[in-house]
Amino acid sequence: MPDWLASVPGVREHEALAPISWYGIGGTARYFLELVDDGRLPELIRHLTHDAIPYLVIGASTNTLFAVDELPGLTIKMRNAELKLDNEQVIAGAGTLMPKLAAETARAGRAGLEFAAGVPGSVGGSIFGNAGAFGGEIKDSLQTVEVLDESGERHTLSADDCRFSYRDSAFKGQHQAWVILRATFRTGADSPQAVRGRLLEVQKHRRTTQPIEQRSLGSTFKNPPGDSAGRLIDAVGLKGMRIGGAEISRKHANFIVNVDGATADDVLALMAEMRDRVFQRFGIELEPEVRIIGRALGS
Ligand code: EPU
Repeated sequence: MPDWLASVPGVREHEALAPISWYGIGGTARYFLELVDDGRLPELIRHLTHDAIPYLVIGASTNTLFAVDELPGLTIKMRNAELKLDNEQVIAGAGTLMPKLAAETARAGRAGLEFAAGVPGSVGGSIFGNAGAFGGEIKDSLQTVEVLDESGERHTLSADDCRFSYRDSAFKGQHQAWVILRATFRTGADSPQAVRGRLLEVQKHRRTTQPIEQRSLGSTFKNPPGDSAGRLIDAVGLKGMRIGGAEISRKHANFIVNVDGATADDVLALMAEMRDRVFQRFGIELEPEVRIIGRALGS
């Protein structure tokens, strides 16, 4: 690995990932950089690509399982969390947390982002995975996304350019080496009380149906068309099943909670069990919703 990477300001070596992951699971990152200001990023990405050094961009790590001993190359955690409200437009840095986006827009009487109160991730991660909750998806209110391509060139993409579908986007496919920098959302006008009321409903529903007081990655599998992964996993009787320190939540069967020092292997073993049991009983192949870094499910 070239010397220049170790001497980039802020770069740390052999950084433990568990403390920065909401799940508390992870190996280490060979090189690690937290970015509050993305000003230097175009040059850095250009340089990494030129030297064929792999890089991985992460957000709040609320939907990512680090199943690695050591991640190669540079791991970049986006913490650029600027938030600007300009009439109907809201501009948010990729590192802005979705619940903060919901709270700040509600305070200003801007409607349309209430669902973000139920998405415990960052704006960048939510665009990457077209996160959604309670009838809303990020694609519904997104106007434009500012990105860097692998050469460090800036582009402004429309929501159509992002090719959003259920929990999917171009950033998981053809643009997987691109970096999401910030996004502009369109909102409507409403009274702060009305917006806040809807936001509180989202939070209440989430508290009632999901194990939010425990560490999880949210929904483990995507819902198959017309059905619910939680219902299917529940129906095969897996609630409460435990492997090592990981447990299938007793509150919501599509959540795996880290109850006692779970490892990535514990989580992957439970995921394999959930997928296999649902397939045997219903013939439905569940597809992971969580982002697994390092190992594929079943390997
Ligand atoms: N159900 C069961 N047993 C369970 C869990 C659920 O029978 O253990 C049943 C419920 O009774 C309900 C149905 O399954 O009839 C659907 O459950 P729920 O309303 O909890 O929603 P979900 O489909 O499991 C989806 C999203 C969540 C989002 C909620 C609320 C997916 C995979 N999940 O969950 O998103 O918060 O709706 O809108 O699309 C996430 O993506 O990480 C996530 C948490």
